[in-house]
Amino acid sequence: MKGKVYIKTFGCQMNEYDSARTADLLASSHGLERTATPEDADVLLINTCSVREKAQEKVFSQLGIWREWKARRPDLVIGVGGCVASQEGEALRARAPFVDIVYGPQTLHRVPGMLDAVRARRRPAVDVSFPEIEKFDRLPEPRASGVTAFVSIMEGCSKYCSFCVVPYTRGEEISRPFDDVIAEVVALAEQGVREITFLGQNVNAYRGALHPAAADVAGDDAVCDLAELVAYAAAVDGIGRIRYTTSHPLEVTERLVDAYRAVPELVGHLHLPVQSGSDRVLAAMKRGYTAASYVEKVARLRAARPGLSLSSDFIVGFPGETEADFEDTMNLIDEVRFDASFSFLYSPRPGTPAAALADVVPDAVKRARLARLQARITELAAEVSAGMVGTVQRVLVEGPSKKDPAALRGRTENNRVVNFDGDPSSRGRFVEVAITEALPNSLRGELVATPPGVASDGRART
Ligand code: SAM
Ligand code: F3S
Repeated sequence: MKGKVYIKTFGCQMNEYDSARTADLLASSHGLERTATPEDADVLLINTCSVREKAQEKVFSQLGIWREWKARRPDLVIGVGGCVASQEGEALRARAPFVDIVYGPQTLHRVPGMLDAVRARRRPAVDVSFPEIEKFDRLPEPRASGVTAFVSIMEGCSKYCSFCVVPYTRGEEISRPFDDVIAEVVALAEQGVREITFLGQNVNAYRGALHPAAADVAGDDAVCDLAELVAYAAAVDGIGRIRYTTSHPLEVTERLVDAYRAVPELVGHLHLPVQSGSDRVLAAMKRGYTAASYVEKVARLRAARPGLSLSSDFIVGFPGETEADFEDTMNLIDEVRFDASFSFLYSPRPGTPAAALADVVPDAVKRARLARLQARITELAAEVSAGMVGTVQRVLVEGPSKKDPAALRGRTENNRVVNFDGDPSSRGRFVEVAITEALPNSLRGELVATPPGVASDGRART
């Protein structure tokens, strides 16, 4: 039976990736077409996030709407996946008994079978187990939908920061084998992808098994780390740019620093969550580094790749955060000069050690701190953008500009959108753009003729 599936995604890029793969899977198993209009769908899925309470509550308000639809259309199948599903399991159905399928981040490959079971037996299906890395072996070849693509290379996290649910909802770190990742990169490049982003909750902890033949040669060193994976992916025909997210400061190894010297395809921009600039708070968070050691890693990265831009995650209002702790964070921001951030108020998560800590900082104080932090990072970002005016940037052309379809839109290495006039056939090419104006959320530029000696994928011709 053909039909349509609608997938609503909350949370991180891993969830975006998982939703895309679930859609690929249902297209190949049931011929379901992914729709952007939930009213048209026969199967409604919600891929959830439980990192903060707010994200979790949004799930139940969305489900409330779908419950009414199902009362009118009993054949509608409703599924909940992702971290809330993983955390709640059967309990989710106690709160929302009209949900037919509950699947976790590691069991999304079983959704087609669960859909069959629900339709055949009219009984709900719940599976939130952690069957190792099986999921990736069961997914069809990815379908590229543009010139950039995500490639998930590892799952889970074994860091157990005191505030975070991820190790409990996604399980411990587990890496995909090296060959499988490279095969996916090759398949995407053949479909026109020019930039890939390697994904993982703790992506630079990647340790992928090598093919048995290579392992015979490599002996005990039979795993590949992120630095090596990046070097191999950069050698894949057509791939001109590589990003990775989200990385942990402790896993920034000397080998990874060297990759910034050796691999020009690795972008000069890194998202490296620091969370706080106070050593006291970092210790309570169980982050495993100090502000000084973080700054020292940044210095080594910038020595390897001058001008490297950095973005970060911050948690404001961690239990017991004093004014002095917060000032340490502000000082760190000025020292590193982050040019973007994901910054949120601390949200106590059930089952995490930090949830038991006494929290005496008034809400209004936390909010004021967050606003100050965000305003400072916006200022720094504006300074970086203004500093780009007059420079020539290598830009990957992604397609027509959103505001003016006659113009083109592309992205710089440091993740800024640039709009400029050019030929629509240059989509998927790397071009040189002279930046002429910095706007609050984007840049304006003018195309510079592609310099001789540079191929359309942006690499130097040898
Ligand atoms: N691997 C990354 C790292 O090295 O920190 C983090 C991935 S985590 C899922 C994404 C971000 O969510 C974290 O960096 C943190 O800032 C935020 N986060 C996690 N738990 C949180 C909580 N309880 N309250 C507020 N923000 C939280
Ligand atoms: Fe969460 Fe810390 Fe891992 S923030 S995803 S436990 S590195």
